[in-house]
Amino acid sequence: MTTTTTTISTGTPNSDDKIFSTTTISLPTPVSDSTTDGLLPMPEFDPAIHLAFEPPTKRHTFSEYGISKPDSCPDVCFTEPFPLFSEEGVRMLRRELLQKKVLDKHLWTWDRAPCYIRAIEPTAKWINNVWNHPAVTECMSKAFGVPLKVLGRRGEVAHVNVQLGPEGVEGVYKLGEQPSAPFPTLPEDNGDNKQNESPQFIDSWHRDSTQVVCVLMLSDTSTMLGGETAIDLGDGRIVKARGARMGSAVMMQGCHLRHAALPAKNAPERISMVTSYHFVDPDLDDSGTSLRSISPQNMDVPVINDHFLLHKLLKLRERIDGMIDKVQQTQGSGAMTARETVEPWIVEQMKFLKLTSWELCERYPEWLYKDVPEEVKQKYLANV
Ligand SMILES: [Fe+2]
Repeated sequence: MTTTTTTISTGTPNSDDKIFSTTTISLPTPVSDSTTDGLLPMPEFDPAIHLAFEPPTKRHTFSEYGISKPDSCPDVCFTEPFPLFSEEGVRMLRRELLQKKVLDKHLWTWDRAPCYIRAIEPTAKWINNVWNHPAVTECMSKAFGVPLKVLGRRGEVAHVNVQLGPEGVEGVYKLGEQPSAPFPTLPEDNGDNKQNESPQFIDSWHRDSTQVVCVLMLSDTSTMLGGETAIDLGDGRIVKARGARMGSAVMMQGCHLRHAALPAKNAPERISMVTSYHFVDPDLDDSGTSLRSISPQNMDVPVINDHFLLHKLLKLRERIDGMIDKVQQTQGSGAMTARETVEPWIVEQMKFLKLTSWELCERYPEWLYKDVPEEVKQKYLANV
């Protein structure tokens, strides 16, 4: 593996002064066997033991809520929660995740997110392998209803959000593979999906910078109240997507949904794990894979930007391969490829490349974390 050394602004995991310190890192970071030294032993991943997949009972659509989306984007907005990992599977995910060595290296806390565990792929190899296992990807595709691939961008496999308890970050170090016992049941304070209320959020309104996410729950939420995802329908109404139970997951196209996380109450812990996907079919929408939330404070910016560029180029190559097949089939039948086939396709690919360029060259700093007005992108696309 080629190693490049660069110096960037970055932070220090699990400290208050994590922004604007400077460090030197090697890129790409080699996965060294020494990183597993001292970590607890992990069993071989066995889908029959560690998974408990059942498809969701319902997939909600953009059409159902009147939310706009690109034409090539599948009409799947979010799923109902569905079982994904068995109790044993959850225990093993927690075993590797919640070790001091992993937390010391990857647990972060700062203003926007009080506690998260990020970019664990090179350290938590068992977890990384699980999410890249074909059996898990197959479950994801079945649950979402459209074939999916793991995006594989640094930090987008098994990104973990932790809702801190009264002991703060120190309390996270006391957690282990056995999920904390739930608190006694409290009476529900309202019915399902109350709309037009003004809830308090633990994560501000945003859109994701990846196309499809799977959010897996690693805590016992049996008596938890709240913790749902709130979705802004854009007309003043808010809908709540039901939160998952331990071992269950929800999937959503958070890139096209303005959403926020509601706080969980009556729970000793709330740990969720997020993994990102994109579509297998290269002709489907990929505008959700963006650099929207990749700031220079992220120590992996060079890796992430190059991953983004390669991802888009590979997508384009697949699109070109598909078009070559079509042209050759037409040629084989003795006909000629029609203008109405080739012209819009070429314009589409030019836009695709140009928008890739926009993300790399124009996203930062003005449009970080922001929706981009259509006219801004149209101006950049003017000569396409
Ligand atoms: Fe999100």
